[in-house]
Amino acid sequence: MEFNKDLGIQQVAFTEKTNYKNFPMVPRVIFGKGSFDQLGDILLPKRKHSDAPFIFLVDDVFEGKELANRIPLLFNDQIIFISADEEPKTSQVDALVEMIRKEYSELPSGIVGIGGGTLMDLAKAVSILLTNRGGSSEYQGWDLVNKPSVYHVGIPTISGTGAEVSRTTVLLGPEKKLGINSDFTTFDQVVLDPDLTQGVSKEQWFYTGMDCFIHCIESLDGTYLNAFSQSYGEKALELCKEVYLGDISEEESREKLMMASWHGGMSIAYSQVGVAHAMSYGLGYVLGVRHGIGNCLVFQHLQEFYPEGVALFKEMQNKHGIIMPKGICSNLSDEQFDIMVSVSLAMGPLWENALGTSWREIITAEKLQAIYRKI
Ligand SMILES: [Fe+2]
Repeated sequence: MEFNKDLGIQQVAFTEKTNYKNFPMVPRVIFGKGSFDQLGDILLPKRKHSDAPFIFLVDDVFEGKELANRIPLLFNDQIIFISADEEPKTSQVDALVEMIRKEYSELPSGIVGIGGGTLMDLAKAVSILLTNRGGSSEYQGWDLVNKPSVYHVGIPTISGTGAEVSRTTVLLGPEKKLGINSDFTTFDQVVLDPDLTQGVSKEQWFYTGMDCFIHCIESLDGTYLNAFSQSYGEKALELCKEVYLGDISEEESREKLMMASWHGGMSIAYSQVGVAHAMSYGLGYVLGVRHGIGNCLVFQHLQEFYPEGVALFKEMQNKHGIIMPKGICSNLSDEQFDIMVSVSLAMGPLWENALGTSWREIITAEKLQAIYRKI
């Protein structure tokens, strides 16, 4: 089982038997405030004909808002508003695909995801399942997708997860939480418009941005580090420091965090995340804690593994007056702790990246449980 949002390349690069990953990148990206308004022009040449619509999957926080009115609808295009309150599910993807197939005789010209990580993941998964038969849970894993997906576009409205650049889409399935990792998952086009992140709450801005910061720390302090990952990770870390500790304007901050997310995503794409992510997935699996805040809840207690990173994190937290919830694990049963620990320990590559090949000698179930109990 795999529980990671970031595992585009698990067990493929920099293991004992070298097998370098031929990593797909987003072929087209547009960046700049207001660039969202070029979406109509971007999509026009991709329209197959008037019966093949564009389907816009949009976070429902934008329902009735100005952004929804700016979506360049033509012919029989459709907007589907989706709640991002919960992590994306395979059943949700299958229902969307069935609905689109029933409603249109033609395959859509494309799928456009507008929102945070959940909407990015849903857009990727729906575009894959429209051309690949069966249920989405059949494709959870590595390179199980046979046919190219329909054209799909990612437009993030919150910065940090790196979902806009990754080759995975993590879905909660009937039996597991696992990504559809494939060369057909990566977006064909990404629109990075920093103005779209304007309405994000302070807490969400902090927790999602810290996902990016933690990607940088885990990548740069990891044993899988290489020049490719380092070049992106160092830039992303520098940008995170400017955003969360520097004295820059809000506008500049939005632009820099958007690029930090991108670079952080590129950094882990060719290395791996580490202890905070491994533990955060245990927390998410048992308690449904969302990715960004889950990482933060864990990371604050990881001085032993990332002393400089944790010190920086606390400095950022204090500067922005973020008070994290406490006692998250206080009422858990022994059985729940056992599940949390085993989910976390199943993330072998993350531990190997963090602690080296003999990680099992360093991290034990007791040690993990002791950290969880502090949360
Ligand atoms: Fe992450």
